[in-house]
Amino acid sequence: MKPPALKLPFAETSAKALPIRSFTAAQWGKDSRREPAATRAWAEAQGFAAKPGQVLLLPDAAGRPRAVLAGLPEQADLWSYAALAAALPEGDYRLDFQPANADDAALGWALAGYRFDRYRKTQATSGAKPLARLVLPKAANKARVQAIYEAMALARDLITTPSNDLGPAELAAAAQSVAKRFKAQCRVITGEQLLKQNYPLIHMVGRAAAPQRQPRLIDITWGSPKAPKVTLVGKGVCFDSGGLDIKPPAGMLMMKKDMGGAAIMLGLAQAIMALKLPIRLRLLIPAVENAISADAFRPGDVCRSRKGLTVEIGNTDAEGRLILADALAEADGEKPELLLNAATLTGAARVALGPDLPALFSTDDALADALLAAGRVTGDPFWRLPLHSPYRDYLDSKVADINNAGDTPFAGSITAALFLRDFVSNTKAWAHLDVYAWTARPRPGRPAGGEAMGLRALLHILEQRYR
Ligand code: BES
Ligand code: MN
Ligand code: ZN
Repeated sequence: MKPPALKLPFAETSAKALPIRSFTAAQWGKDSRREPAATRAWAEAQGFAAKPGQVLLLPDAAGRPRAVLAGLPEQADLWSYAALAAALPEGDYRLDFQPANADDAALGWALAGYRFDRYRKTQATSGAKPLARLVLPKAANKARVQAIYEAMALARDLITTPSNDLGPAELAAAAQSVAKRFKAQCRVITGEQLLKQNYPLIHMVGRAAAPQRQPRLIDITWGSPKAPKVTLVGKGVCFDSGGLDIKPPAGMLMMKKDMGGAAIMLGLAQAIMALKLPIRLRLLIPAVENAISADAFRPGDVCRSRKGLTVEIGNTDAEGRLILADALAEADGEKPELLLNAATLTGAARVALGPDLPALFSTDDALADALLAAGRVTGDPFWRLPLHSPYRDYLDSKVADINNAGDTPFAGSITAALFLRDFVSNTKAWAHLDVYAWTARPRPGRPAGGEAMGLRALLHILEQRYR
Protein backbone atom coordinates (compact mmCIF):
# COMPACT_ATOMS: atom_id res chain seq x y z
CA MET A 1 0.00 0.00 0.00
CA LYS A 2 1.35 3.41 -0.95
CA PRO A 3 1.77 5.96 1.84
CA PRO A 4 -1.19 8.34 2.08
CA ALA A 5 -1.05 11.72 0.32
CA LEU A 6 0.95 13.97 2.61
CA LYS A 7 -0.03 17.37 1.32
CA LEU A 8 -1.98 18.82 4.20
CA PRO A 9 -4.15 21.92 3.65
CA PHE A 10 -1.97 24.34 5.60
CA ALA A 11 -1.08 27.78 4.20
CA GLU A 12 2.50 29.02 4.60
CA THR A 13 1.80 32.72 5.08
CA SER A 14 -0.99 34.63 6.73
CA ALA A 15 -0.60 37.79 4.61
CA LYS A 16 -3.71 37.25 2.50
CA ALA A 17 -5.53 34.79 4.74
CA LEU A 18 -9.07 35.72 5.73
CA PRO A 19 -9.53 35.96 9.50
CA ILE A 20 -12.13 33.64 11.04
CA ARG A 21 -13.94 34.92 14.10
CA SER A 22 -15.88 32.33 16.09
CA PHE A 23 -19.02 32.52 18.18
CA THR A 24 -21.24 30.09 19.96
CA ALA A 25 -24.92 30.71 19.25
CA ALA A 26 -25.32 32.09 22.78
CA GLN A 27 -22.37 34.46 22.37
CA TRP A 28 -23.71 35.68 19.06
CA GLY A 29 -27.09 36.30 20.61
CA LYS A 30 -25.47 38.56 23.22
CA ASP A 31 -22.54 40.12 21.38
CA SER A 32 -23.83 40.66 17.86
CA ARG A 33 -25.31 44.00 18.84
CA ARG A 34 -21.75 45.30 19.16
CA GLU A 35 -21.11 44.53 15.49
CA PRO A 36 -21.48 47.26 12.84
CA ALA A 37 -25.05 47.70 11.59
CA ALA A 38 -24.09 46.48 8.11
CA THR A 39 -22.67 43.24 9.57
CA ARG A 40 -25.80 42.64 11.61
CA ALA A 41 -28.06 43.27 8.65
CA TRP A 42 -25.97 40.97 6.44
CA ALA A 43 -25.99 38.23 9.10
CA GLU A 44 -29.72 38.52 9.50
CA ALA A 45 -30.37 38.47 5.76
CA GLN A 46 -28.25 35.30 5.48
CA GLY A 47 -29.87 33.62 8.49
CA PHE A 48 -26.55 33.49 10.35
CA ALA A 49 -27.09 32.69 14.03
CA ALA A 50 -23.67 31.12 14.80
CA LYS A 51 -25.19 27.65 14.97
CA PRO A 52 -22.46 24.97 14.94
CA GLY A 53 -21.22 24.58 11.37
CA GLN A 54 -22.68 27.86 10.10
CA VAL A 55 -20.30 30.24 8.33
CA LEU A 56 -20.79 33.73 6.97
CA LEU A 57 -18.40 35.53 4.63
CA LEU A 58 -18.32 39.27 5.26
CA PRO A 59 -17.76 41.42 2.14
CA ASP A 60 -15.67 44.57 1.93
CA ALA A 61 -16.87 47.71 0.09
CA ALA A 62 -15.90 46.13 -3.24
CA GLY A 63 -17.86 42.97 -2.47
CA ARG A 64 -14.75 40.83 -1.85
CA PRO A 65 -14.64 38.64 1.28
CA ARG A 66 -12.68 40.28 4.10
CA ALA A 67 -13.52 38.06 7.07
CA VAL A 68 -15.50 35.02 8.16
CA LEU A 69 -17.90 34.58 11.03
CA ALA A 70 -18.18 30.98 12.18
CA GLY A 71 -20.51 29.19 14.56
CA LEU A 72 -18.82 26.67 16.85
CA PRO A 73 -20.41 24.55 19.58
CA GLU A 74 -19.69 25.19 23.26
CA GLN A 75 -17.17 22.34 23.38
CA ALA A 76 -15.63 22.47 19.91
CA ASP A 77 -13.69 19.33 19.03
CA LEU A 78 -11.76 18.40 15.91
CA TRP A 79 -14.94 17.55 14.02
CA SER A 80 -16.20 21.11 14.57
CA TYR A 81 -13.15 22.32 12.67
CA ALA A 82 -13.67 19.71 9.97
CA ALA A 83 -17.18 21.10 9.50
CA LEU A 84 -15.78 24.64 9.35
CA ALA A 85 -13.20 23.72 6.70
CA ALA A 86 -15.79 21.85 4.67
CA ALA A 87 -18.19 24.82 4.71
CA LEU A 88 -15.69 27.39 3.41
CA PRO A 89 -14.88 28.21 -0.21
CA GLU A 90 -11.39 27.54 -1.54
CA GLY A 91 -8.84 30.06 -0.24
CA ASP A 92 -6.55 30.80 2.71
CA TYR A 93 -7.85 31.40 6.22
CA ARG A 94 -6.50 32.00 9.70
CA LEU A 95 -8.14 31.64 13.10
CA ASP A 96 -8.64 35.05 14.69
CA PHE A 97 -8.82 33.41 18.13
CA GLN A 98 -7.01 30.75 20.15
CA PRO A 99 -8.70 27.38 19.80
CA ALA A 100 -8.90 25.35 23.02
CA ASN A 101 -6.73 22.68 21.36
CA ALA A 102 -4.72 23.96 18.40
CA ASP A 103 -3.59 20.49 17.27
CA ASP A 104 -7.16 19.21 17.20
CA ALA A 105 -8.31 22.29 15.28
CA ALA A 106 -5.61 21.75 12.65
CA LEU A 107 -6.17 17.99 12.54
CA GLY A 108 -9.92 18.35 12.12
CA TRP A 109 -9.37 20.89 9.35
CA ALA A 110 -6.99 18.53 7.56
CA LEU A 111 -9.34 15.56 7.92
CA ALA A 112 -12.00 17.50 6.03
CA GLY A 113 -9.78 16.89 3.01
CA TYR A 114 -9.32 13.14 3.56
CA ARG A 115 -10.56 10.99 0.70
CA PHE A 116 -10.18 7.35 -0.24
CA ASP A 117 -9.16 7.80 -3.84
CA ARG A 118 -7.44 4.54 -4.71
CA TYR A 119 -10.04 3.66 -7.33
CA ARG A 120 -11.21 7.16 -8.33
CA LYS A 121 -8.36 9.52 -8.94
CA THR A 122 -9.92 12.53 -10.57
CA GLN A 123 -11.78 15.29 -8.80
CA ALA A 124 -14.67 14.98 -11.20
CA THR A 125 -15.30 11.38 -10.21
CA SER A 126 -14.52 11.71 -6.50
CA GLY A 127 -16.78 14.75 -6.19
CA ALA A 128 -14.24 16.64 -4.13
CA LYS A 129 -13.79 20.39 -4.24
CA PRO A 130 -10.36 21.75 -3.29
CA LEU A 131 -10.20 22.26 0.45
CA ALA A 132 -9.83 25.66 2.06
CA ARG A 133 -6.34 26.14 3.54
CA LEU A 134 -5.56 27.07 7.12
CA VAL A 135 -2.66 29.07 8.51
CA LEU A 136 -1.53 26.77 11.30
CA PRO A 137 -2.42 28.26 14.69
CA LYS A 138 0.72 29.35 16.61
CA ALA A 139 0.17 26.77 19.32
CA ALA A 140 -0.17 23.86 16.88
CA ASN A 141 2.57 21.24 16.63
CA LYS A 142 2.76 20.62 12.89
CA ALA A 143 4.80 17.43 13.09
CA ARG A 144 2.37 15.94 15.59
CA VAL A 145 -0.69 16.92 13.56
CA GLN A 146 0.90 15.42 10.47
CA ALA A 147 1.80 12.19 12.30
CA ILE A 148 -1.75 11.71 13.56
CA TYR A 149 -3.28 12.60 10.20
CA GLU A 150 -1.04 10.07 8.45
CA ALA A 151 -1.82 7.42 11.05
CA MET A 152 -5.56 7.92 10.62
CA ALA A 153 -5.32 8.03 6.83
CA LEU A 154 -3.28 4.82 6.80
CA ALA A 155 -5.82 3.03 8.99
CA ARG A 156 -8.78 4.34 6.98
CA ASP A 157 -7.18 3.45 3.64
CA LEU A 158 -6.42 -0.09 4.78
CA ILE A 159 -9.91 -0.65 6.15
CA THR A 160 -11.67 0.70 3.08
CA THR A 161 -9.51 -1.21 0.61
CA PRO A 162 -11.51 -4.22 -0.58
CA SER A 163 -10.39 -7.72 0.27
CA ASN A 164 -9.32 -8.58 -3.28
CA ASP A 165 -6.56 -5.96 -2.91
CA LEU A 166 -5.95 -6.42 0.80
CA GLY A 167 -5.43 -9.99 1.94
CA PRO A 168 -3.09 -11.17 4.71
CA ALA A 169 -0.07 -10.76 2.41
CA GLU A 170 -0.90 -7.15 1.57
CA LEU A 171 -1.61 -6.33 5.21
CA ALA A 172 1.79 -7.77 6.10
CA ALA A 173 3.40 -5.74 3.31
CA ALA A 174 1.77 -2.56 4.65
CA ALA A 175 3.12 -3.35 8.13
CA GLN A 176 6.56 -4.08 6.73
CA SER A 177 6.68 -0.78 4.91
CA VAL A 178 5.77 1.11 8.09
CA ALA A 179 8.45 -0.85 9.98
CA LYS A 180 11.03 -0.06 7.32
CA ARG A 181 10.23 3.64 7.37
CA PHE A 182 10.97 3.83 11.10
CA LYS A 183 13.73 1.22 11.17
CA ALA A 184 11.67 -1.10 13.33
CA GLN A 185 12.21 -4.84 13.37
CA CYS A 186 9.49 -6.78 11.56
CA ARG A 187 9.06 -10.53 11.54
CA VAL A 188 6.26 -12.34 9.71
CA ILE A 189 5.47 -15.99 10.43
CA THR A 190 3.52 -17.46 7.52
CA GLY A 191 1.46 -20.58 6.75
CA GLU A 192 2.82 -23.92 8.01
CA GLN A 193 5.45 -22.05 10.03
CA LEU A 194 2.63 -20.96 12.33
CA LEU A 195 2.18 -24.60 13.34
CA LYS A 196 5.93 -25.13 13.83
CA GLN A 197 6.15 -22.02 16.00
CA ASN A 198 3.01 -22.88 17.96
CA TYR A 199 0.33 -20.51 16.74
CA PRO A 200 -2.26 -23.23 16.12
CA LEU A 201 -5.40 -21.10 16.31
CA ILE A 202 -4.12 -18.51 13.84
CA HIS A 203 -3.25 -21.31 11.45
CA MET A 204 -6.55 -23.11 11.93
CA VAL A 205 -8.69 -20.05 11.20
CA GLY A 206 -6.64 -18.96 8.19
CA ARG A 207 -5.69 -22.26 6.56
CA ALA A 208 -8.71 -22.48 4.22
CA ALA A 209 -7.60 -19.40 2.29
CA ALA A 210 -5.89 -19.60 -1.12
CA PRO A 211 -2.12 -20.33 -1.07
CA GLN A 212 -1.14 -16.70 -1.68
CA ARG A 213 -3.53 -15.63 1.09
CA GLN A 214 -2.19 -17.92 3.82
CA PRO A 215 -2.46 -16.84 7.45
CA ARG A 216 0.39 -15.04 9.13
CA LEU A 217 1.49 -13.35 12.34
CA ILE A 218 3.01 -9.91 11.90
CA ASP A 219 5.37 -8.99 14.75
CA ILE A 220 6.93 -5.52 14.88
CA THR A 221 9.27 -4.30 17.62
CA TRP A 222 10.72 -0.83 17.97
CA GLY A 223 12.45 1.30 20.60
CA SER A 224 14.96 0.74 23.34
CA PRO A 225 14.71 -2.69 25.01
CA LYS A 226 15.17 -0.87 28.32
CA ALA A 227 12.13 1.38 27.86
CA PRO A 228 8.71 0.42 29.28
CA LYS A 229 7.05 -2.32 27.22
CA VAL A 230 3.82 -1.40 25.47
CA THR A 231 2.25 -4.06 23.27
CA LEU A 232 -0.53 -3.47 20.75
CA VAL A 233 -2.59 -6.30 19.27
CA GLY A 234 -5.09 -5.93 16.42
CA LYS A 235 -7.54 -8.33 14.78
CA GLY A 236 -6.49 -8.74 11.16
CA VAL A 237 -9.28 -10.74 9.52
CA CYS A 238 -8.90 -9.52 5.95
CA PHE A 239 -12.23 -11.02 5.00
CA ASP A 240 -14.72 -12.72 7.29
CA SER A 241 -17.05 -14.97 5.32
CA GLY A 242 -18.05 -16.58 8.60
CA GLY A 243 -16.38 -19.84 7.57
CA LEU A 244 -18.64 -22.91 7.44
CA ASP A 245 -21.14 -21.25 9.78
CA ILE A 246 -21.48 -18.90 6.82
CA LYS A 247 -22.69 -15.36 7.33
CA PRO A 248 -25.93 -14.20 5.68
CA PRO A 249 -25.39 -11.73 2.80
CA ALA A 250 -26.17 -8.56 4.74
CA GLY A 251 -23.67 -9.53 7.42
CA MET A 252 -20.96 -10.53 4.95
CA LEU A 253 -21.22 -7.37 2.89
CA MET A 254 -19.09 -5.25 5.23
CA MET A 255 -16.53 -7.85 6.14
CA LYS A 256 -13.59 -6.34 4.27
CA LYS A 257 -13.36 -4.14 7.35
CA ASP A 258 -12.76 -7.07 9.71
CA MET A 259 -9.07 -6.10 9.86
CA GLY A 260 -10.08 -2.75 11.38
CA GLY A 261 -8.41 -3.48 14.73
CA ALA A 262 -5.16 -4.32 12.94
CA ALA A 263 -5.33 -1.17 10.81
CA ILE A 264 -5.99 1.05 13.83
CA MET A 265 -3.11 -0.49 15.78
CA LEU A 266 -0.75 -0.23 12.79
CA GLY A 267 -1.71 3.44 12.43
CA LEU A 268 -1.18 3.98 16.16
CA ALA A 269 2.20 2.24 16.00
CA GLN A 270 3.20 4.48 13.12
CA ALA A 271 2.24 7.60 15.10
CA ILE A 272 4.14 6.35 18.17
CA MET A 273 7.28 5.84 16.08
CA ALA A 274 6.91 9.14 14.21
CA LEU A 275 6.59 10.96 17.55
CA LYS A 276 9.45 8.91 19.03
CA LEU A 277 7.62 8.06 22.25
CA PRO A 278 10.14 6.61 24.70
CA ILE A 279 8.65 3.12 24.90
CA ARG A 280 9.60 -0.35 23.76
CA LEU A 281 6.79 -0.92 21.30
CA ARG A 282 5.56 -4.27 20.10
CA LEU A 283 2.77 -4.71 17.57
CA LEU A 284 1.24 -8.13 16.97
CA ILE A 285 -1.22 -8.64 14.13
CA PRO A 286 -2.66 -12.05 13.38
CA ALA A 287 -3.66 -11.68 9.72
CA VAL A 288 -6.00 -14.24 8.16
CA GLU A 289 -8.86 -14.72 5.78
CA ASN A 290 -11.79 -16.62 7.30
CA ALA A 291 -12.54 -18.57 4.14
CA ILE A 292 -14.44 -21.68 3.13
CA SER A 293 -12.76 -24.68 1.48
CA ALA A 294 -12.36 -28.42 1.94
CA ASP A 295 -9.70 -27.59 4.51
CA ALA A 296 -11.80 -25.14 6.51
CA PHE A 297 -12.04 -25.67 10.29
CA ARG A 298 -15.43 -26.98 11.40
CA PRO A 299 -17.97 -26.54 14.18
CA GLY A 300 -17.13 -29.16 16.81
CA ASP A 301 -13.40 -29.21 16.05
CA VAL A 302 -11.10 -28.96 19.05
CA CYS A 303 -7.72 -27.24 18.87
CA ARG A 304 -4.99 -26.74 21.47
CA SER A 305 -4.07 -23.06 21.62
CA ARG A 306 -0.61 -21.51 22.00
CA LYS A 307 -1.30 -21.04 25.70
CA GLY A 308 -2.17 -24.73 26.10
CA LEU A 309 -5.89 -24.29 26.70
CA THR A 310 -7.99 -26.45 24.38
CA VAL A 311 -10.72 -24.67 22.44
CA GLU A 312 -13.86 -26.24 21.04
CA ILE A 313 -15.33 -24.51 18.00
CA GLY A 314 -18.96 -23.64 18.64
CA ASN A 315 -19.12 -21.32 15.66
CA THR A 316 -16.53 -20.70 12.94
CA ASP A 317 -17.80 -17.13 12.70
CA ALA A 318 -16.36 -16.39 16.15
CA GLU A 319 -12.92 -16.43 14.51
CA GLY A 320 -11.53 -13.12 15.75
CA ARG A 321 -11.22 -14.25 19.35
CA LEU A 322 -9.39 -17.40 18.19
CA ILE A 323 -6.59 -15.63 16.35
CA LEU A 324 -6.39 -13.00 19.10
CA ALA A 325 -6.08 -15.73 21.74
CA ASP A 326 -2.76 -16.91 20.28
CA ALA A 327 -1.49 -13.36 19.72
CA LEU A 328 -2.49 -12.25 23.23
CA ALA A 329 -0.87 -15.33 24.77
CA GLU A 330 2.39 -14.40 23.03
CA ALA A 331 2.08 -10.75 24.10
CA ASP A 332 1.25 -11.72 27.68
CA GLY A 333 4.33 -13.96 27.90
CA GLU A 334 6.51 -10.83 27.96
CA LYS A 335 4.41 -9.24 30.70
CA PRO A 336 4.26 -5.78 29.13
CA GLU A 337 3.52 -2.73 31.23
CA LEU A 338 0.53 -2.06 28.97
CA LEU A 339 -1.32 -4.43 26.63
CA LEU A 340 -3.91 -2.91 24.31
CA ASN A 341 -6.08 -4.84 21.90
CA ALA A 342 -8.48 -3.60 19.22
CA ALA A 343 -10.87 -5.74 17.20
CA THR A 344 -14.05 -5.66 15.15
CA LEU A 345 -15.00 -8.53 17.40
CA THR A 346 -18.79 -8.69 17.75
CA GLY A 347 -22.02 -7.48 16.23
CA ALA A 348 -23.37 -7.48 19.78
CA ALA A 349 -21.18 -4.50 20.74
CA ARG A 350 -22.89 -2.56 17.95
CA VAL A 351 -26.33 -3.58 19.12
CA ALA A 352 -25.43 -2.33 22.60
CA LEU A 353 -23.60 0.90 21.76
CA GLY A 354 -24.20 1.70 18.09
CA PRO A 355 -21.47 2.31 15.51
CA ASP A 356 -19.63 5.28 17.07
CA LEU A 357 -18.87 4.04 20.58
CA PRO A 358 -16.30 1.28 20.88
CA ALA A 359 -16.87 -1.00 23.85
CA LEU A 360 -14.02 -0.88 26.33
CA PHE A 361 -13.17 -3.86 28.53
CA SER A 362 -10.43 -3.91 31.11
CA THR A 363 -9.36 -5.86 34.16
CA ASP A 364 -7.67 -2.70 35.43
CA ASP A 365 -9.97 0.06 36.71
CA ALA A 366 -7.25 2.73 36.69
CA LEU A 367 -6.46 2.00 33.04
CA ALA A 368 -10.15 1.95 32.13
CA ASP A 369 -10.71 5.31 33.83
CA ALA A 370 -7.68 6.81 32.08
CA LEU A 371 -8.96 5.54 28.72
CA LEU A 372 -12.46 6.89 29.29
CA ALA A 373 -11.02 10.29 30.24
CA ALA A 374 -8.71 10.25 27.19
CA GLY A 375 -11.69 9.41 25.02
CA ARG A 376 -13.57 12.42 26.34
CA VAL A 377 -10.81 15.00 25.90
CA THR A 378 -9.87 13.80 22.42
CA GLY A 379 -13.43 13.48 21.12
CA ASP A 380 -12.66 9.80 20.48
CA PRO A 381 -14.95 8.22 23.06
CA PHE A 382 -15.49 4.69 24.43
CA TRP A 383 -18.07 3.18 26.71
CA ARG A 384 -17.02 0.62 29.32
CA LEU A 385 -18.75 -2.75 29.49
CA PRO A 386 -18.14 -5.25 32.28
CA LEU A 387 -16.01 -8.39 32.22
CA HIS A 388 -18.82 -10.02 34.19
CA SER A 389 -17.26 -13.29 35.39
CA PRO A 390 -20.55 -15.16 36.04
CA TYR A 391 -21.10 -15.15 32.25
CA ARG A 392 -17.88 -17.08 31.74
CA ASP A 393 -19.84 -20.33 32.04
CA TYR A 394 -21.68 -19.46 28.79
CA LEU A 395 -18.38 -20.54 27.24
CA ASP A 396 -18.10 -23.89 29.04
CA SER A 397 -17.38 -26.82 26.73
CA LYS A 398 -18.21 -30.47 27.34
CA VAL A 399 -14.99 -31.68 25.72
CA ALA A 400 -12.46 -28.84 25.92
CA ASP A 401 -11.31 -26.09 28.29
CA ILE A 402 -13.41 -23.44 26.57
CA ASN A 403 -15.85 -22.99 23.68
CA ASN A 404 -15.36 -20.10 21.29
CA ALA A 405 -19.06 -19.19 21.14
CA GLY A 406 -21.59 -18.78 23.90
CA ASP A 407 -24.59 -21.11 24.08
CA THR A 408 -26.91 -18.09 24.25
CA PRO A 409 -27.08 -14.94 22.12
CA PHE A 410 -27.06 -12.78 25.28
CA ALA A 411 -24.10 -10.56 26.21
CA GLY A 412 -22.20 -11.45 23.05
CA SER A 413 -19.65 -8.67 23.36
CA ILE A 414 -19.00 -9.50 27.02
CA THR A 415 -18.55 -13.23 26.42
CA ALA A 416 -16.12 -12.46 23.56
CA ALA A 417 -14.11 -10.28 25.95
CA LEU A 418 -14.25 -12.97 28.63
CA PHE A 419 -12.90 -15.46 26.10
CA LEU A 420 -9.91 -13.16 25.46
CA ARG A 421 -9.35 -12.67 29.18
CA ASP A 422 -8.55 -16.36 29.62
CA PHE A 423 -5.47 -15.83 27.43
CA VAL A 424 -4.08 -12.89 29.40
CA SER A 425 -2.78 -13.94 32.80
CA ASN A 426 0.48 -12.11 33.56
CA THR A 427 -0.26 -8.59 32.37
CA LYS A 428 -1.93 -6.30 34.87
CA ALA A 429 -2.89 -3.43 32.57
CA TRP A 430 -4.80 -5.02 29.69
CA ALA A 431 -7.60 -3.34 27.75
CA HIS A 432 -9.68 -4.60 24.85
CA LEU A 433 -11.64 -2.38 22.47
CA ASP A 434 -14.49 -3.86 20.46
CA VAL A 435 -14.69 -1.34 17.59
CA TYR A 436 -16.86 -0.88 14.51
CA ALA A 437 -14.06 0.86 12.58
CA TRP A 438 -16.48 2.19 9.99
CA THR A 439 -18.40 5.35 9.21
CA ALA A 440 -21.76 4.55 7.63
CA ARG A 441 -23.34 7.97 8.12
CA PRO A 442 -20.84 10.49 6.73
CA ARG A 443 -20.05 13.75 8.49
CA PRO A 444 -17.43 16.44 7.77
CA GLY A 445 -13.97 14.92 8.23
CA ARG A 446 -15.49 11.46 8.32
CA PRO A 447 -16.49 10.27 4.86
CA ALA A 448 -18.27 6.94 4.56
CA GLY A 449 -15.67 4.17 4.93
CA GLY A 450 -13.04 2.96 7.35
CA GLU A 451 -12.53 4.89 10.57
CA ALA A 452 -9.62 4.77 13.02
CA MET A 453 -11.79 4.70 16.13
CA GLY A 454 -9.80 4.82 19.34
CA LEU A 455 -6.47 5.70 17.72
CA ARG A 456 -6.30 9.26 19.05
CA ALA A 457 -7.50 8.37 22.53
CA LEU A 458 -4.94 5.57 22.81
CA LEU A 459 -2.16 7.85 21.58
CA HIS A 460 -3.27 10.42 24.15
CA ILE A 461 -2.83 8.08 27.13
CA LEU A 462 0.55 6.97 25.80
CA GLU A 463 1.69 10.59 25.41
CA GLN A 464 0.41 11.32 28.90
CA ARG A 465 2.26 8.41 30.45
CA TYR A 466 5.48 8.40 28.57
CA ARG A 467 6.33 11.88 27.38
N1 BES B 1 -16.40 -9.77 12.51
C1 BES B 1 -17.52 -10.26 13.20
C2 BES B 1 -18.18 -9.22 14.10
C3 BES B 1 -18.81 -8.03 13.46
C4 BES B 1 -19.99 -8.16 12.75
C5 BES B 1 -18.27 -6.79 13.64
C6 BES B 1 -20.58 -7.06 12.19
C7 BES B 1 -18.85 -5.67 13.10
C8 BES B 1 -20.01 -5.81 12.36
C9 BES B 1 -17.15 -11.43 14.07
O1 BES B 1 -16.14 -12.25 13.57
C10 BES B 1 -18.38 -12.27 14.22
O2 BES B 1 -18.82 -12.80 13.25
N2 BES B 1 -18.90 -12.36 15.46
C11 BES B 1 -20.08 -13.09 15.72
C12 BES B 1 -19.81 -13.99 16.91
C13 BES B 1 -20.85 -15.06 17.13
C14 BES B 1 -20.79 -16.08 16.01
C15 BES B 1 -20.58 -15.73 18.44
C16 BES B 1 -21.20 -12.12 16.02
O3 BES B 1 -20.93 -11.07 16.63
O4 BES B 1 -22.32 -12.38 15.63
MN1 MN C 1 -16.87 -13.74 12.29
ZN1 ZN D 1 -14.79 -11.38 12.30
